[in-house]
Amino acid sequence: MYISHLSLTNFRNYGRLELDFKSGPVLLYGHNAQGKTNLLEAIYYLATTRSPHADSDQQLLNWNANEADEPVIVGRLVAQVVTKDGTQLLELRLIKEQKLQNGASFRREALVNRRQVRLMDLIGHLRATLFLPEDIQLITGPPANRRRYVDITLCQVDPTYCRNLAGYNKVLEQRNALLRQINESGSGRDVLPIFTDKLITLGSAIFARRADLFAYLARSAQRIHYEDLTNRQETIRLNYLPRLEETQPGRSREENEAVEEMMALADWLHEQPTGNHKSIAMRFGEAVDGCTEQDIARSSTSLGPHRDDWFFQVNGRPLAAYGSRGQQRSAMLALKLAEIAWMKAETGETPVLLLDEVVAELDERRRALLLQVTQNASQAILTATDPGMFAASFLQQAQTLHVAGGRVSSGVPLATPAGP
Ligand SMILES: Nc1ncnc2c1ncn2[C@@H]1O[C@H](COP(=O)(O)OP(=O)(O)O)[C@@H](O)[C@H]1O
Ligand SMILES: [Mg+2]
Repeated sequence: MYISHLSLTNFRNYGRLELDFKSGPVLLYGHNAQGKTNLLEAIYYLATTRSPHADSDQQLLNWNANEADEPVIVGRLVAQVVTKDGTQLLELRLIKEQKLQNGASFRREALVNRRQVRLMDLIGHLRATLFLPEDIQLITGPPANRRRYVDITLCQVDPTYCRNLAGYNKVLEQRNALLRQINESGSGRDVLPIFTDKLITLGSAIFARRADLFAYLARSAQRIHYEDLTNRQETIRLNYLPRLEETQPGRSREENEAVEEMMALADWLHEQPTGNHKSIAMRFGEAVDGCTEQDIARSSTSLGPHRDDWFFQVNGRPLAAYGSRGQQRSAMLALKLAEIAWMKAETGETPVLLLDEVVAELDERRRALLLQVTQNASQAILTATDPGMFAASFLQQAQTLHVAGGRVSSGVPLATPAGP
């Protein structure tokens, strides 16, 4: 799939933008702080309804519009997306209304082919894989970030997963509120099984889907890493850690029996029949019931996919603790390339690749591989401050766009005929 047209209104430093894209590689170049990252952010936001950079959606509204003291400020992102099944028009609106009495209100609206849909149902129409220099923080950062990465990847491909996840998060919140009530007042024990049952049904479906995703990613990332990235020198292993059962408490996160147990559980999950979660629900259900008193005492649910995690090993050792930055970068690159392969296997087409300043930090071998992948994708949008680091053959093939001060213009031809 590819984006053929993007239009932005009051998004970040773009007051108004109308931009045609070609399929294949697209290079956005320009000095710092001109709007390259903002453009990729807009596309990713349309794909996932999430910003990789902003803490709040309101930050995305153009400052000038925001300060103009109008009663209603509307930010609009519209993309025309060409897929193998036809062309679709996706729209996301950010609406801020000044109320006379009680301050401002903010809401978002999503539209597909001009018809309003739930925000959740915008996801999946445009699939994107994002490469950022800070991706390696996934390896060392908190588990919530790693779960978010998995959820965004799955939601883009599988609407059922997305619905199950939303349902799960809701019932988890309700169950935790009830646990607190039981803890504080003793009342409500009789209705606890209703929430526990829902938690188990939805949680089992989430476990199953994640286990299948990880089985694919682990195989694919390992192959890419071994054959393409490290010249058959290093082996990575990607491990899913499902919190399906209570495990042995251990010394450190990645080097204890608990981890071994969870890795075995991940294998077991993957062996269960696809689409039938009965055996998973039985096992998960028993484990949750075994934690009832502990859950009440803590007023929180100790088991379930909301506590899942994953990690890499390189040559048998945890990458977060023992890997160099270069090794961590290679593992993340392998993971992202595996993600693209997975999306293609699931949907029959490559997602739109978004690469923000990642080419500059790679060595020659990794750069060549990444550029080869971008040239084979339906569309890959790259940013760079210095287009000089791209080979002439790449520049000749790419649509080049110059970004300056929130405006985008067709770039001058960057490839010198005599270049390498
Ligand atoms: N909500 C906003 N409204 C207007 N300008 C913004 C907003 N958020 C960020 N900016 C501006 O956008 C610019 C950064 O753009 P960015 O896309 O990160 O640049 P780069 O081209 O280096 O990737 C900065 O000048 C910043 O001040
Ligand atoms: Mg940038």
